[in-house]
Amino acid sequence: MLIKRPTDYLPSEITSETVYRRRREFVKAAAAGTILGATGGTARADDSGLRQLANVAASPLSTFEKPTADKYVTHYNNYYEFGTDKSDPVQHAGRLKTRPWTVAVEGECRKPRTFAIEELLKFPLQERVYRLRCVEAWSMVVPWIGFELGALLRQVEPTGNAKFVEFTTAYQPDAMIGVRLPVLDWPYVEGLRMDEAMHPLAILAVGLYGEVLPNQNGAPIRVVVPWKYGFKSAKSIVRIRLAGKQPSTAWEKASPREYGFYSNVNPNVDHPRWSQQRERRIPEFFARRDTVIFNGYGDQVAQLYAGMDLKKYF
Ligand code: MTE
Repeated sequence: MLIKRPTDYLPSEITSETVYRRRREFVKAAAAGTILGATGGTARADDSGLRQLANVAASPLSTFEKPTADKYVTHYNNYYEFGTDKSDPVQHAGRLKTRPWTVAVEGECRKPRTFAIEELLKFPLQERVYRLRCVEAWSMVVPWIGFELGALLRQVEPTGNAKFVEFTTAYQPDAMIGVRLPVLDWPYVEGLRMDEAMHPLAILAVGLYGEVLPNQNGAPIRVVVPWKYGFKSAKSIVRIRLAGKQPSTAWEKASPREYGFYSNVNPNVDHPRWSQQRERRIPEFFARRDTVIFNGYGDQVAQLYAGMDLKKYF
């Protein structure tokens, strides 16, 4: 078994100065583009010309597994609005218009508000190196830059009726060649239960490898929920709605038998068409490693599902 237990964020290590320094050096190296693999050469300044993200702190919640090289993180993508092949997003997402950009946060809250992307970039940014496990049984390790989703939600003061969070993503038919086909019920919508959304591991990412998000990875802002299959991590978010009822998501609508609302990474619950027990770490081709329940984040999130039948609530 190649996956090691996630001892890499034991509390004893979190406070260690060496670990902290190592992370800081990594962040600096990533920003300078000198880190292993950060040579993709993708021009990725956003529509405002911003490229490098400043004041990024290290996070004790990062894994120390080696990040997947930049060229794979940014060239092997799922962003169906730009086509269904892994190479489509990098070819076509350049047309996505990322400025002006706002995210409306509304619904069951006392202070609904629309945030300009410029305001969101002022949230305390951290680098979070997370494992990303796609439902298609491949995985990567991505050095995201972002801030806690909970920090944004607290600003609008959710009411007691807020039980779920719904994410609606950009729909730009002029730019998105993929939405011409009814692959999904556009716009792409995803959702989380409120306690999942407030969990410190759930972030809104605005960058990766020290720079703003390339369009194909969900510029200018996307969710990242590392213990769930990658499709829960909706890209290019324009609206976050606090809701009393469980949102109806794009993948559930497309195939409810195959894609559940929870979609926690779980090697014990197979997709109806393939096993979820093993995964291929990009760019490895033949090697397979064991998939770990909750993508290895069980110590932090398993209690969210205490008493739930995970085969029923898959
Ligand atoms: N968000 C939108 N709007 N459209 C999509 O097609 N694909 C999802 C998710 N978010 C998708 C999306 C899937 S299936 C995965 S695995 C991840 O994005 C992939 O993220 P990455 O390309 O940055 O690795």
